[in-house]
Parts: sequence; C-alpha cells; structure tokens
Amino acid sequence: MLTPYQQHVHRWSTCQRCPLAHAGRTAVVLARGKLPCDILMVGEAPGASEDALGKPFVGPAGHLLDEITAQAIPEWIRLAYTNLVSCIPLDGIGNKVSEPEAECIRACQPRLLEFVKLCQPKGIVLVGELAERNFPKEAARSVEHYAKIHHPAAILRANYAMQSIMRQRCLVALQGLVETLTSQGDQGAPF
Ligand code: URA
Repeated sequence: MLTPYQQHVHRWSTCQRCPLAHAGRTAVVLARGKLPCDILMVGEAPGASEDALGKPFVGPAGHLLDEITAQAIPEWIRLAYTNLVSCIPLDGIGNKVSEPEAECIRACQPRLLEFVKLCQPKGIVLVGELAERNFPKEAARSVEHYAKIHHPAAILRANYAMQSIMRQRCLVALQGLVETLTSQGDQGAPF
C-alpha cells in the first residue's frame, strides 16, 4: 500500500504534460523535506545539480538557501522544498534556459497544488520573483501566511555589497514568517 506521497511520486515521476519531458531531463524533481511540513519553500525550476540528484535545491543556490534558512528558522520547524516546475528547463538542444516557459509552469500546476495539499504548510516561502508571480492562486487561498525572498541564484550573481543586503532582506522576511507562525501557536510552543 503506497503512502499519499509515494502515490504523488508514482503519478508525477513519468510526467509528459509539457515539452520539458522531452527536452533532455534526467529526473522529474519533485520535492525534499518533511511531510507534513510547517513551511514550504517554492522555487523556480531544477538546475543541473537538481536534475542530476533528483531533489530540489541541492546545488550552489540550494546550499546558500540552506545557510540563510538555518540562520532564520529554528530546527524544529519542519521544512519542505519544491519548485513551480519539476523538470530542468532545457531548450531542444540541451542548453539550460533561464526561465521555464509559461506553458510549462501551467502544466505543472496540478502537481504543485497536489503537493501543497499533501504538505499542509502553515506558511509558504516564495523563492524569487518567478515563484512570486506564478504561484497558483488556488493554492494561495489554502495557506494564510507568506514570505517572499530573493532567489539564492540572484544573490550569488550580485556584487558583494548587494549580496549582504539581499541576504539580510531574506533573513528579515523569514524571521517575520517564523514570528507570525509561532505567535499563533501555544505561547511559542512548536505548532
Ligand atoms: N533554483 C530553483 O529555483 N530551484 C531549485 O531547485 C534549484 C535552483
């Protein structure tokens, strides 16, 4: 008997709903973290490391995200990670493109909605502008608390001075979300 998450993996790991299924992906990158979770981080799309390892945010951007998260979010808060799109955005000849096409974001929405339902997060962190612009409204209605942070890949591309400003903004946004969530619990007890 499969668990609901195993059923999710079974349903989506051979997905053919958009052109990225045939553009050269190694893996359908679904999620990592704890289920159910307290906070769900939603990024953009897998990069090369994620495509190779089959898990979101496990490359350089993911390492920076983990570092920032560890500073802002206590360990007992259960985190999970996914992306708007579960396949690496490649053009027809295997080159990584900067953003997934709108068609692919749309095609991946049912998978994302299903994962949000499985996770039942109390808060969602939209990682980067693309996630902020494209997070499905239907999922947005089911979760009350949000934070928006810079995409770690954008931080890595910025100059040194800007990097520290961007990191600081991420910390403030994440700490704000944690404060909101914990103040709703039983006097700060794990919610
Ligand atoms: N960037 C993302 O948006 N998601 C990942 O999983 C990795 C890099």
